[in-house]
Amino acid sequence: MAITIRYTLVLLFYFLPSHFDISYAVTCSNHKFTSNRVYTSCKELPHLSARLHWTYNSTIGAAKIAYRARQGAGGWVAWAINPNQIGMVGSEALVAFVNSNGSMTVYPTIITSYSPSMLPADLSYQVSGLSAEFLNNEITIYATVGPFAGGSVVNQVWQAGHLVIDGVPQMHDVSQQNLQSTGELDFMSG
Ligand SMILES: *[C@@H]1O[C@H](CO)[C@@H](O)[C@H](O)[C@H]1NC(C)=O
Ligand SMILES: *[C@@H]1O[C@H](CO)[C@@H](O)[C@H](O)[C@H]1NC(C)=O
Repeated sequence: MAITIRYTLVLLFYFLPSHFDISYAVTCSNHKFTSNRVYTSCKELPHLSARLHWTYNSTIGAAKIAYRARQGAGGWVAWAINPNQIGMVGSEALVAFVNSNGSMTVYPTIITSYSPSMLPADLSYQVSGLSAEFLNNEITIYATVGPFAGGSVVNQVWQAGHLVIDGVPQMHDVSQQNLQSTGELDFMSG
């Protein structure tokens, strides 16, 4: 018994530092962005190690956002609003990944089916100031989005995949995390 406990403790201490990413020890609200960007609100999303930071301008109904999600250099991340329904199909996404030369690709696309083309497309809501960065195994997408047809309350969807081939993000996993990464967001709250 004593041996088992000691073994468990040793394992814990051995694995904790390597698995505990420092950037994730920083809580949602005190995360420091590059270029001195600041946002009034932040929400820890329940899946895929993701967070959304935003500042909402209720006069014009637009939100300045930073979507941060854990990802390796070979993978992709996406944050979307679905103007029509809850879930993936019909969602209007901002997708980002790191190119092999280290530069970022980030663009809007519409998820028209369960097997979308992932080609760039115009969205039904306005997007400006779109950019992305890769730092500490995290991809961040910056943009100003909106106004939205339904006002400040939107259906958000977020996603991540491990593979990009010839500049095209490939199918994500279908684990619980990947299938449950959707929910209502009120830009006026928080
Ligand atoms: C909201 O946007 C309007 C129009 O661009 C601007 O005049 C106003 O200052 C903004 N409000 C805030 C709180 O930034
Ligand atoms: C890096 O790769 C991307 C995607 O292939 C390309 O669009 C971009 O021009 C490249 N940048 C440089 C500096 O070579």
